[in-house]
Amino acid sequence: MKKTLIVGNWKMHLNTHQASLLAHRLHQHVAAHHDVEVVIAPSNLSLQPLSVELDRRKFRLAAQDAYPKDEGAFTGEVSFAMLRDLVHYAIVGHSARRIYFNESLELIRDKVESAVRNDISPILCIGETKQDRDNGETKQVIHDQLTTALSNITSDDITKVVIAYEPVWAISTFDGEKAKPDDMQRAIDYIRFQIKELYGERAALAVRVLYGGSVTDHDAGAYLRLKGCNGVLVGAASLNFHQFAGIVESAHRLQHERGVA
Ligand code: PGA
Repeated sequence: MKKTLIVGNWKMHLNTHQASLLAHRLHQHVAAHHDVEVVIAPSNLSLQPLSVELDRRKFRLAAQDAYPKDEGAFTGEVSFAMLRDLVHYAIVGHSARRIYFNESLELIRDKVESAVRNDISPILCIGETKQDRDNGETKQVIHDQLTTALSNITSDDITKVVIAYEPVWAISTFDGEKAKPDDMQRAIDYIRFQIKELYGERAALAVRVLYGGSVTDHDAGAYLRLKGCNGVLVGAASLNFHQFAGIVESAHRLQHERGVA
Protein backbone atom coordinates (compact mmCIF):
# COMPACT_ATOMS: atom_id res chain seq x y z
CA MET A 1 0.00 0.00 0.00
CA LYS A 2 1.28 3.49 -0.86
CA LYS A 3 2.04 5.76 2.07
CA THR A 4 -0.35 8.66 2.44
CA LEU A 5 1.45 11.93 1.82
CA ILE A 6 0.59 14.88 4.06
CA VAL A 7 2.29 18.12 3.01
CA GLY A 8 2.18 21.29 5.11
CA ASN A 9 2.74 24.43 3.05
CA TRP A 10 3.66 27.20 5.46
CA LYS A 11 3.66 29.78 2.64
CA MET A 12 5.16 33.17 3.62
CA HIS A 13 4.56 32.70 7.35
CA LEU A 14 6.90 32.35 10.34
CA ASN A 15 10.40 33.75 10.80
CA THR A 16 13.16 31.26 11.63
CA HIS A 17 12.50 31.46 15.36
CA GLN A 18 8.75 30.91 14.95
CA ALA A 19 9.42 28.10 12.48
CA SER A 20 11.64 26.33 15.02
CA LEU A 21 8.96 26.67 17.67
CA LEU A 22 6.31 25.18 15.43
CA ALA A 23 8.68 22.37 14.44
CA HIS A 24 9.24 21.66 18.12
CA ARG A 25 5.49 21.45 18.74
CA LEU A 26 5.03 19.22 15.71
CA HIS A 27 7.66 16.86 17.08
CA GLN A 28 5.69 16.60 20.28
CA HIS A 29 2.27 16.13 18.71
CA VAL A 30 2.73 14.35 15.40
CA ALA A 31 3.30 10.64 15.81
CA ALA A 32 5.46 8.70 13.35
CA HIS A 33 3.41 6.17 11.35
CA HIS A 34 4.91 3.77 8.85
CA ASP A 35 1.95 4.34 6.51
CA VAL A 36 2.03 8.16 6.45
CA GLU A 37 4.76 10.41 5.07
CA VAL A 38 4.75 13.91 6.52
CA VAL A 39 6.39 16.74 4.61
CA ILE A 40 6.85 20.33 5.70
CA ALA A 41 7.43 23.22 3.32
CA PRO A 42 8.71 26.23 5.30
CA SER A 43 10.22 29.36 3.75
CA ASN A 44 13.65 28.87 2.17
CA LEU A 45 15.17 30.69 5.12
CA SER A 46 14.08 27.97 7.53
CA LEU A 47 15.06 24.96 5.44
CA GLN A 48 18.63 24.79 6.71
CA PRO A 49 17.88 25.10 10.45
CA LEU A 50 14.91 22.74 10.21
CA SER A 51 17.01 20.18 8.36
CA VAL A 52 19.07 19.94 11.54
CA GLU A 53 16.22 20.23 14.04
CA LEU A 54 13.68 17.86 12.52
CA ASP A 55 13.76 14.14 13.09
CA ARG A 56 14.11 12.83 9.55
CA ARG A 57 12.33 9.62 10.45
CA LYS A 58 9.23 11.71 11.10
CA PHE A 59 9.40 14.63 8.72
CA ARG A 60 10.74 15.42 5.30
CA LEU A 61 11.30 18.86 3.91
CA ALA A 62 10.01 20.55 0.79
CA ALA A 63 10.86 23.87 -0.80
CA GLN A 64 7.91 26.04 -1.79
CA ASP A 65 9.48 26.98 -5.10
CA ALA A 66 12.88 27.25 -6.80
CA TYR A 67 14.44 28.54 -10.01
CA PRO A 68 15.03 26.13 -12.89
CA LYS A 69 18.57 27.21 -13.87
CA ASP A 70 21.24 25.58 -11.71
CA GLU A 71 23.27 28.80 -11.22
CA GLY A 72 23.86 32.19 -12.78
CA ALA A 73 23.07 35.89 -12.57
CA PHE A 74 19.51 35.45 -11.30
CA THR A 75 19.48 37.84 -8.36
CA GLY A 76 17.14 36.81 -5.59
CA GLU A 77 16.61 33.26 -6.78
CA VAL A 78 17.51 29.89 -5.25
CA SER A 79 17.97 26.92 -7.59
CA PHE A 80 16.84 23.32 -7.28
CA ALA A 81 20.55 22.45 -7.56
CA MET A 82 21.21 24.43 -4.35
CA LEU A 83 18.38 22.65 -2.56
CA ARG A 84 19.14 19.11 -3.64
CA ASP A 85 20.80 17.96 -0.40
CA LEU A 86 18.29 19.78 1.77
CA VAL A 87 14.86 18.73 0.51
CA HIS A 88 13.09 15.64 -0.80
CA TYR A 89 10.31 17.61 -2.45
CA ALA A 90 9.59 21.00 -3.97
CA ILE A 91 6.19 22.54 -4.62
CA VAL A 92 6.04 23.70 -8.23
CA GLY A 93 3.40 25.77 -9.97
CA HIS A 94 1.36 26.68 -6.90
CA SER A 95 -1.56 28.90 -7.92
CA ALA A 96 -0.06 31.75 -5.88
CA ARG A 97 3.01 31.56 -8.16
CA ARG A 98 0.92 31.30 -11.30
CA ILE A 99 -1.34 34.21 -10.31
CA TYR A 100 0.83 36.69 -8.35
CA PHE A 101 4.12 36.01 -10.15
CA ASN A 102 2.71 35.32 -13.61
CA GLU A 103 4.42 31.95 -13.90
CA SER A 104 3.83 30.56 -17.36
CA LEU A 105 3.13 26.95 -18.30
CA GLU A 106 6.60 26.82 -19.86
CA LEU A 107 8.39 28.14 -16.74
CA ILE A 108 6.57 25.53 -14.67
CA ARG A 109 7.58 22.85 -17.19
CA ASP A 110 11.25 23.92 -16.75
CA LYS A 111 10.91 23.82 -12.96
CA VAL A 112 9.46 20.31 -12.99
CA GLU A 113 12.32 19.18 -15.23
CA SER A 114 14.97 20.90 -13.08
CA ALA A 115 13.58 19.42 -9.86
CA VAL A 116 13.67 15.88 -11.25
CA ARG A 117 17.17 16.41 -12.70
CA ASN A 118 18.31 17.45 -9.22
CA ASP A 119 16.75 14.44 -7.51
CA ILE A 120 13.93 16.41 -5.94
CA SER A 121 10.35 15.22 -6.36
CA PRO A 122 8.22 18.07 -7.67
CA ILE A 123 4.77 18.46 -6.13
CA LEU A 124 3.14 19.89 -9.21
CA CYS A 125 0.07 21.98 -8.34
CA ILE A 126 -2.64 22.26 -10.95
CA GLY A 127 -6.21 23.49 -10.81
CA GLU A 128 -8.76 25.74 -12.41
CA THR A 129 -9.91 29.18 -11.30
CA LYS A 130 -13.53 29.98 -10.54
CA GLN A 131 -13.84 31.62 -13.92
CA ASP A 132 -12.47 28.52 -15.68
CA ARG A 133 -14.97 26.44 -13.77
CA ASP A 134 -17.90 28.73 -14.54
CA ASN A 135 -16.93 28.57 -18.22
CA GLY A 136 -16.94 24.77 -18.10
CA GLU A 137 -13.20 24.65 -18.81
CA THR A 138 -11.97 22.64 -15.84
CA LYS A 139 -10.85 19.64 -17.89
CA GLN A 140 -9.17 21.78 -20.52
CA VAL A 141 -7.20 23.66 -17.85
CA ILE A 142 -6.14 20.45 -16.11
CA HIS A 143 -5.14 18.99 -19.47
CA ASP A 144 -3.08 22.02 -20.51
CA GLN A 145 -1.36 22.49 -17.15
CA LEU A 146 -0.53 18.82 -16.85
CA THR A 147 0.65 18.07 -20.36
CA THR A 148 2.84 21.17 -20.60
CA ALA A 149 4.38 20.70 -17.14
CA LEU A 150 5.24 17.07 -17.88
CA SER A 151 6.46 17.52 -21.42
CA ASN A 152 10.14 17.02 -20.49
CA ILE A 153 9.51 14.15 -18.08
CA THR A 154 10.27 10.66 -19.34
CA SER A 155 8.38 7.52 -18.36
CA ASP A 156 11.34 6.54 -16.16
CA ASP A 157 10.86 9.69 -14.09
CA ILE A 158 7.10 10.19 -14.01
CA THR A 159 6.58 8.41 -10.70
CA LYS A 160 8.91 10.93 -9.01
CA VAL A 161 6.32 13.62 -9.76
CA VAL A 162 3.50 14.16 -7.28
CA ILE A 163 0.42 15.92 -8.60
CA ALA A 164 -1.60 18.13 -6.31
CA TYR A 165 -5.05 19.05 -7.55
CA GLU A 166 -5.85 22.42 -6.02
CA PRO A 167 -8.88 24.19 -7.47
CA VAL A 168 -8.01 27.85 -7.04
CA TRP A 169 -11.55 28.74 -5.92
CA ALA A 170 -11.24 26.30 -2.99
CA ILE A 171 -7.92 27.56 -1.59
CA SER A 172 -8.10 29.35 1.77
CA THR A 173 -11.89 29.65 1.69
CA PHE A 174 -12.54 28.11 5.08
CA ASP A 175 -15.81 29.98 5.58
CA GLY A 176 -16.78 30.01 1.94
CA GLU A 177 -16.92 27.62 -0.94
CA LYS A 178 -15.53 24.17 -0.29
CA ALA A 179 -14.72 21.59 -2.86
CA LYS A 180 -17.28 18.77 -2.97
CA PRO A 181 -15.82 15.27 -2.86
CA ASP A 182 -17.76 14.27 -6.03
CA ASP A 183 -16.19 17.09 -8.04
CA MET A 184 -12.80 16.17 -6.64
CA GLN A 185 -13.28 12.53 -7.60
CA ARG A 186 -13.97 13.55 -11.18
CA ALA A 187 -10.85 15.72 -11.26
CA ILE A 188 -8.62 13.03 -9.77
CA ASP A 189 -9.96 10.46 -12.24
CA TYR A 190 -9.31 12.85 -15.09
CA ILE A 191 -5.73 13.49 -13.92
CA ARG A 192 -5.05 9.74 -13.86
CA PHE A 193 -6.66 9.39 -17.27
CA GLN A 194 -4.28 12.04 -18.62
CA ILE A 195 -1.26 10.30 -17.06
CA LYS A 196 -2.44 7.07 -18.66
CA GLU A 197 -2.68 8.77 -22.06
CA LEU A 198 0.86 10.12 -21.67
CA TYR A 199 2.66 7.29 -19.86
CA GLY A 200 0.42 4.23 -19.79
CA GLU A 201 -1.65 2.33 -17.27
CA ARG A 202 1.11 1.43 -14.81
CA ALA A 203 2.27 5.02 -14.46
CA ALA A 204 -1.33 6.17 -14.03
CA LEU A 205 -1.74 3.85 -11.06
CA ALA A 206 1.67 4.59 -9.57
CA VAL A 207 1.69 8.41 -9.65
CA ARG A 208 0.63 10.01 -6.39
CA VAL A 209 -2.24 12.49 -6.61
CA LEU A 210 -3.06 14.82 -3.71
CA TYR A 211 -5.95 17.16 -3.01
CA GLY A 212 -5.38 20.68 -1.70
CA GLY A 213 -7.70 23.56 -0.77
CA SER A 214 -8.88 24.55 2.73
CA VAL A 215 -8.26 21.09 4.18
CA THR A 216 -8.80 20.89 7.94
CA ASP A 217 -8.59 18.13 10.52
CA HIS A 218 -12.40 17.84 10.22
CA ASP A 219 -12.62 17.17 6.51
CA ALA A 220 -9.22 15.65 5.64
CA GLY A 221 -10.73 12.15 6.00
CA ALA A 222 -13.41 12.87 3.38
CA TYR A 223 -10.79 13.88 0.80
CA LEU A 224 -8.44 11.05 1.71
CA ARG A 225 -11.28 8.58 1.19
CA LEU A 226 -11.61 9.55 -2.48
CA LYS A 227 -10.52 6.78 -4.77
CA GLY A 228 -6.99 7.40 -5.96
CA CYS A 229 -6.33 10.28 -3.57
CA ASN A 230 -2.92 9.65 -2.00
CA GLY A 231 -2.75 12.60 0.35
CA VAL A 232 -3.43 16.25 0.99
CA LEU A 233 -1.59 19.53 0.58
CA VAL A 234 -2.46 21.67 3.58
CA GLY A 235 -1.94 25.42 3.85
CA ALA A 236 -3.44 27.34 6.77
CA ALA A 237 -4.20 24.27 8.91
CA SER A 238 -0.53 23.24 8.75
CA LEU A 239 0.37 26.30 10.85
CA ASN A 240 -1.69 24.92 13.73
CA PHE A 241 0.03 21.91 15.28
CA HIS A 242 -3.22 20.49 16.73
CA GLN A 243 -4.93 20.58 13.36
CA PHE A 244 -1.94 19.31 11.45
CA ALA A 245 -1.43 16.45 13.90
CA GLY A 246 -5.17 15.68 13.54
CA ILE A 247 -4.83 15.45 9.76
CA VAL A 248 -1.88 13.05 10.10
CA GLU A 249 -3.93 10.92 12.52
CA SER A 250 -6.91 10.82 10.09
CA ALA A 251 -4.56 9.60 7.38
CA HIS A 252 -3.16 6.90 9.63
CA ARG A 253 -6.63 5.77 10.80
CA LEU A 254 -7.78 5.42 7.22
CA GLN A 255 -4.70 3.46 6.20
CA HIS A 256 -5.25 1.20 9.16
CA GLU A 257 -8.93 0.63 8.22
CA ARG A 258 -7.90 -0.21 4.66
CA GLY A 259 -5.22 -2.58 5.87
CA VAL A 260 -7.69 -4.42 8.12
CA ALA A 261 -10.52 -4.49 5.55
P1 PGA B 1 -5.12 26.24 2.23
O1 PGA B 1 -3.86 26.25 1.23
O2 PGA B 1 -5.12 24.88 2.89
O3 PGA B 1 -4.86 27.36 3.17
O4 PGA B 1 -6.32 26.43 1.38
C1 PGA B 1 -3.61 25.16 0.39
C2 PGA B 1 -2.53 25.57 -0.57
O5 PGA B 1 -2.53 26.74 -1.00
O6 PGA B 1 -1.66 24.76 -0.92
